[in-house]
Amino acid sequence: MKSISIMLILAFQLWFCIVGISHGQSIVPGFMIFGDSVVDTGNNNNQLTLVKANFRPYGRDFGSHLPTGRFCNGKLATDFTVETLGFSSYPPAYFSSEAQGENLLYGANFALAASGYWDKTAILYGAVPLTRQLRNFEEYQARIKAIAGEENATELIRESIYLLSAGSSDYVQNYYINPLINKLKTPDQVTSLAPLGCLPASITLFGKDKNDCVTRLNSDAIGFNYKLKAAAEALKKSHPDLKLVVFDIYNPLLDLVQNPSKYGFFETRKACCGTGTIETSLLCNAISIGTCSDASGYVFWDSFHPSEAANKALAGALLLQGIELIS
Ligand SMILES: *[C@@H]1O[C@H](CO)[C@@H](O)[C@H](O)[C@H]1NC(C)=O
Repeated sequence: MKSISIMLILAFQLWFCIVGISHGQSIVPGFMIFGDSVVDTGNNNNQLTLVKANFRPYGRDFGSHLPTGRFCNGKLATDFTVETLGFSSYPPAYFSSEAQGENLLYGANFALAASGYWDKTAILYGAVPLTRQLRNFEEYQARIKAIAGEENATELIRESIYLLSAGSSDYVQNYYINPLINKLKTPDQVTSLAPLGCLPASITLFGKDKNDCVTRLNSDAIGFNYKLKAAAEALKKSHPDLKLVVFDIYNPLLDLVQNPSKYGFFETRKACCGTGTIETSLLCNAISIGTCSDASGYVFWDSFHPSEAANKALAGALLLQGIELIS
C-alpha cells in the first residue's frame, strides 16, 4: 500500500508507469491496474457517466467481437502485457460481475475512463476520480483477505505489479479543450508523457489547418517526461528497495506516427472510427459514418485512443523497458 501512495504522489498523470515490488521472483501473482480510459476494461459500463465504450463498434475485433467497455477495437496495451506475463485471464474490471470470489485473486482493474490524476477531470465527466479508485483498492484488499486469508492476501498485494495510466484525458480534454478549467491550471502543473499533439483530436482542434502533430502539445509532453524521470531518480535514491520503472510511452507512440510503414501502418492522421478526426466515446458509435472496415493499418482507433494494432506494438516496447521488474 505504501508503494501505491508513493506511486500516486509521484506519478502525476503519465500514461504508463509501472511500480512493481518484486523479490527476485520471475512470476508475479497479480496485476493491479489504475487509471483512465487507456486501461479501463469496462468499469464505466454501469456508471452514470457519458464517457463509455460499451457499444459497437468498440470491441468489434476483440475475441468475443462484443463491446467490453475498452476504448479500442480490440485489446489494450495492458491486455497484451497481461498475456505476456502468463496470466490466463485479464484482471477483472472491479465493478463488473466477474469481480467475485477467486477471480479477484490475480489482481483487478480499478481504472475508470476520464478519471485522470486530477480529480476535477473525473467530476467534470461524471466519472469516478482516482482517489476513489484507491478507496476501491482498499476495499478490494479487505475482500481478498476474506477470500484467501490474511497471509495469502498480503503476499498478493506485496508481489503484484501495479500499473497506473493517466494524463491523456486530463491533459487534452481539460487543459486544452475546457476553457473554464484552462484558466485554473498551467501546463507546468498538468502535463503528460504521450505525444499528445499527434492524437487525431488534437490535430483537429489545435492544428490550425495544418495536418501535422501539434508542436506545442508535444513539447509540453516532453517537459513532463523530463520532470517525471528526475522525480523517479530521486525516489529511487530515497527508497533503494523500490522497484520502479517509468515507462516512456512518448517515443514508442511517436515512432509509430512518424514511421508507420516500419510497423505496418498506413494511416496515422485519421482514426478508424467515424471521420477519425474528433470522435470518441458516444460520438464513435454504430452509426458513425466513415468507420474503416479494417483497423489494422490505423495507429488510432478513435480520435483519442490507439488501435489494437498500435497497442500491440506499444506493449512490446513497454515490455522491453519494464523487463527488470519481472526478472
Ligand atoms: C492460501 O493459499 C494456499 C495456496 O494457494 C492455499 O492452500 C490456502 O488454502 C490459502 N489460505 C486460505 C486461508 O485460504
